[in-house]
Amino acid sequence: MKGIVFTGFLDLVEDKFGLEMVDTLLANSELPSNGVYTAVGTYSFAEMVSLLTNLNKETGIAIDDLLLVYGEHFFSVVKKSYPEFLLQFKDPFDMLGSIENHIHVEVIKIYPDAELPTFEIVKQTENELVMIYTSSRAMHSFGKGLMNKTFEHFNQKATILVEKLNDKGTEVKFSITADE
Ligand code: HEM
Repeated sequence: MKGIVFTGFLDLVEDKFGLEMVDTLLANSELPSNGVYTAVGTYSFAEMVSLLTNLNKETGIAIDDLLLVYGEHFFSVVKKSYPEFLLQFKDPFDMLGSIENHIHVEVIKIYPDAELPTFEIVKQTENELVMIYTSSRAMHSFGKGLMNKTFEHFNQKATILVEKLNDKGTEVKFSITADE
């Protein structure tokens, strides 16, 4: 997992819970990196799991809820670091339908070792998008957070239904419909 994901995460934790919480997480988590991350570096996904597990222990907030808020925050990280990514799209459906064949393809060019999910498009119209998320990392709630902020960015509203296709959440169906 890329360092930009870790630095964004620790910034969010500091913002919401304070620097002491960051110190507690770094002290209690299993971190071969010792919690020192650079944006372009690559670190084990297990470090993120350990940080999330400890934040869940400290705050009582469910891991999926933490990932949702984190996904929402990651949108602003992306917006700041890669503003050109957002300028190419005319609306949220256009953008979300382009993750697989466009956005994440560009991400792989910047970070060849990025570990990305796949989004298989099942149905796409002007105001509806149905996609299947697949990833061994089960970060669908992080994706939901990014989707929420995508609609906010374009000043539009939508209903996003999330249906787990297996218990682990490594396969998830997103059904997105524009609100009238
Ligand atoms: C992961 C970039 C948009 C869904 C990632 C990662 C990066 C990235 C750098 C981490 C990869 C790693 O750590 O190895 C971007 C950029 C975007 C973008 C620059 C530009 C707008 C989106 C959108 C979604 C999305 C709109 C909506 C669902 C995800 C998910 C992951 C991820 C769910 C977590 C990894 C996983 O589930 O396996 N993305 N992303 N991304 N991205 Fe994107």
